[in-house]
Amino acid sequence: MTVSISPISDALGAEANGVDLTRPLTQAEQDVLQQAVVENLVLVIRNQHLNPEQYLASVRLFGDTMPQHLTEMLMKDHPEIAVLDSRNAGADADGTVYTTGSRDWHTDHTNHAKPPKFTALYAITLPKSGGGDTGFANMRKAFDNLPPSRQAELSALQTINKIEDKAYVSAADKKKFGVLQSHPLIRTHPETGRKAIYIHPGKVAKIEGMSEEDSKGFVDNLMDQIIQPDVTYRHKWRIGDFVIWDNRAVVHLAHRDYDPTEGRVMQRVLVQGEAPR
Ligand code: OGA
Ligand code: MN
Repeated sequence: MTVSISPISDALGAEANGVDLTRPLTQAEQDVLQQAVVENLVLVIRNQHLNPEQYLASVRLFGDTMPQHLTEMLMKDHPEIAVLDSRNAGADADGTVYTTGSRDWHTDHTNHAKPPKFTALYAITLPKSGGGDTGFANMRKAFDNLPPSRQAELSALQTINKIEDKAYVSAADKKKFGVLQSHPLIRTHPETGRKAIYIHPGKVAKIEGMSEEDSKGFVDNLMDQIIQPDVTYRHKWRIGDFVIWDNRAVVHLAHRDYDPTEGRVMQRVLVQGEAPR
């Protein structure tokens, strides 16, 4: 088996070919995959046939798994895996039901002191009438695209992050994961040394030193500025896709353009990261 890596868009992302994750990989092959995700920020491995143990073993090639606060979606025998099923969508505190995944561009779980460096999704079921793509945006490129004065302005800022008020997060987990966390808005990648915009707008309680209202306007404006076609890639899922992305330099978006009753099922695992700097 020879692993090869090919880009899937000009913005970010690569596909690994010649990989069967049910078989043991050589150290060299593991190195290729690990390097591919950090360089390309999104790594797609198509056409995999994985039971939960094999899926977890595959994610562990990239690091240690970490707990998720999607309390009601955890797989019984494998609580490291959350099953995102569009038919069991959670509701907000106000009762509004949204399909799983997030409604806006975001990086994952910024409410942690050490948020996940990678998120993996494995496609089990897709809506039969189509839709349910995932968007990815390269926050390294988005940062590089900004004029130096804006880069300097953003580099001075810290976001204060909270857990969202969703009914699917239990009261105990809200408490456990609910401590406010301060993170740099511009993050330096620990492996590549490259700077990237690091943000989960839904979890930003405020920007340090700004009012909540000003923070919201600031963040909305920033997202409008940075999410541009030249930094984005839209992944059209096929059953058996194993996709892993680098949360330290990518934001993503679940397109909610499908009929949730048809069933979109993804198995999700998080890989432990480090404190953002
Ligand atoms: C996630 C997420 C996107 C999707 O799992 O963190 O945002 O398309 N998912 O399911
Ligand atoms: Mn997400």
